[in-house]
Amino acid sequence: MEQTFTITSGASKESLYSELIPQIEAYISSEDETVSTLANVAAILKEYMGFFWVGFYLVRDESSLYLGPFQGPVACSSIRYGRGVCGSAWKERCTLVVPDVDEFPGHIACSSLSKSEIVVPLIRFDGTFVGVLDIDSPKKCDFDEIDKKYLERLANSICKTIK
Ligand code: SME
Repeated sequence: MEQTFTITSGASKESLYSELIPQIEAYISSEDETVSTLANVAAILKEYMGFFWVGFYLVRDESSLYLGPFQGPVACSSIRYGRGVCGSAWKERCTLVVPDVDEFPGHIACSSLSKSEIVVPLIRFDGTFVGVLDIDSPKKCDFDEIDKKYLERLANSICKTIK
């Protein structure tokens, strides 16, 4: 069954998020396959928010993340704990908003076009770290507290379904 989402064209970023996130949450609550859910969440964010690169890195073991479902240019398949923005978000267990990736020590450039980034940890209610939601932009300073607020809400909803 085709899944459609309704947003107001030309709306502000906050309006887009406020319309879209509840619809994504409703979709997530209707699914029970993790890979399918993450694949469609990446596709929805790409289509409706117009992100350059959006996807997930998931915990492989205590020292590395592996590339999960994503939308955008080819990406690195593995990231070590504490490395790059994703590995740092894991280590610090907090969202990292990076206005200029060239200023982030150890940034991992999967695409030379990526200029700013936000990485949101996926942490279950019991404290288990399961991965990150990673979004790149070709524009510097493209992410802010609005993105952080809504993407952390989405990450919380996603964590309720990740087995
Ligand atoms: N830039 C990320 C690596 C993943 S690519 O952006 C998809 C990092 O530094 O962890």
